[in-house]
Amino acid sequence: MSESDAVNASRRKFVTATAAAVGAVMGTVVGVPALGYLASPALEAGGTDAWVPLGKLDSFPVAVPTPFSFTRSRVNGWDKSTRSYTVYVLRDEAGVKVLSSRCTHLSCQVTWQADQNAFTCPCHDAKFGAQGEVLHGPPPKPLDTYETKIEDGTLLIRVVEA
Ligand code: FES
Repeated sequence: MSESDAVNASRRKFVTATAAAVGAVMGTVVGVPALGYLASPALEAGGTDAWVPLGKLDSFPVAVPTPFSFTRSRVNGWDKSTRSYTVYVLRDEAGVKVLSSRCTHLSCQVTWQADQNAFTCPCHDAKFGAQGEVLHGPPPKPLDTYETKIEDGTLLIRVVEA
């Protein structure tokens, strides 16, 4: 190998090493923020616990389970979902109770039947009393209740999503 061949080989190695180093720096400068941007939604916590206002407590009749429906949107990473809820507000002398409309057997939606004075589930013919207690059928426990609070006369329930 001549002296000029050795110099050319050395230059080639230097240029290759320099290009690799510049490429690595550029890749890091551009790549790390880009990966952070792409991954950030997956790292955000979704809303899983919230107080939902149902309206003025006085607007709900006494001693009549009254349905109230609402939807909640939830963003969990890349997944955005909307869920609908129907609850029943029951006011009486003791205060207020808010019942879930999801049957405790297999989660079908119950409805209040005033003529039967009961919530009925269409899936397996279950019945719940006005306080949510099981009257008939396979449900293993009463209807679920929501934690409630009153703020400035407005009824709120605590919704916890799994
Ligand atoms: S889901 Fe309601 S009784 Fe089965």
